[in-house]
Amino acid sequence: MRQVELGRAMPLETAREAPTRLRRLRRTEALRNLVRENHLHATDLILPVFVDEAADEPVPIASMPGVSRIPLKRVAHEVEAIARDGVRALMLFGIPAEKDAVGSDTLAATGLMARMTQAAKAAAPDLVVITDNCFCEYTDHGHCGVLMDDGHIHNDQTVANLARQAVVAAEAGADMVAPSAMMDGQIAAMRAALDAAGFDHLPIMSYSSKFASAFYGPFRAASGCDLVGDRKTYQADPMNGREALRESALDEAEGADMLMVKPGLPYLDVLTQIRARTELPLGVYQVSGEYAMIKFAAAAGALEEDRVVRETLGAFKRAGADLILSYFTRQVLREGL
Ligand code: PBG
Repeated sequence: MRQVELGRAMPLETAREAPTRLRRLRRTEALRNLVRENHLHATDLILPVFVDEAADEPVPIASMPGVSRIPLKRVAHEVEAIARDGVRALMLFGIPAEKDAVGSDTLAATGLMARMTQAAKAAAPDLVVITDNCFCEYTDHGHCGVLMDDGHIHNDQTVANLARQAVVAAEAGADMVAPSAMMDGQIAAMRAALDAAGFDHLPIMSYSSKFASAFYGPFRAASGCDLVGDRKTYQADPMNGREALRESALDEAEGADMLMVKPGLPYLDVLTQIRARTELPLGVYQVSGEYAMIKFAAAAGALEEDRVVRETLGAFKRAGADLILSYFTRQVLREGL
């Protein structure tokens, strides 16, 4: 036995039990790769795409550097290029030339939602094409539904319109519909309408736990939505975690095939808790404000963009997301995962 001198730290080898040394598995890149718990795959990522009916050229979005609205007439060309970069799934947002009080353009089989969906599917049949089902981009007041004279958004009239809109998207060839209006009962109504129209095979990804977030700021500019007021009467209160869990539980009970938390980073707690409560595939949306924060901080030289982007996407996986909607999708796939 070695003598331990008083006043000196006890050498580790004399400790009775071998100490845990977590650094052993961090010594080399190869070891770190071997024990990595979460990995990003191309199939985890969904790219949101803005389609502008009136534009002739791509329209850069100043508050989202690197993101442009695609002219409807160039959807085929752009979607082919996006697919070549390795993107597997798209979420389509339309900016129509004409808006009105109810967003009637999007209820027509000849409207923008139908035409952009057809164009995207025709250009890249293997791509999963998802439609954002809502009305805020299509209404002149910018709300997600039917605005009443007294200023409130009529729940059940909006739900009826969402059900019609879902069938329009399905008939145009969408692989999945994603309602984001946060109306009560919208999933059950859309499911019933799709089934009745012969689309019982078409899945619904619900924006189930969607918060009334200030992080959607740049999206409003991107989607040409001049909202008067706010969405606090239909989207969940950012201070409420349990309410968000109830929202997702209700949507599952109504027949949603997939759930989603939105925004992402500020709501990782909600993501983890929903993961623990459901067996459904779970998505998360890294929204426009999250994208802008990283882009502007990187442009200012404050952050290393690549690493920060991967760290945030990794955080979503670690917190329990199966799928991530992110404006960084194309960029990270082009650079290689
Ligand atoms: C509603 C919708 C919004 C976003 C996606 N779908 C806007 C809102 O709810 O105000 C925001 C996405 C983002 O900020 O990136 N159609």
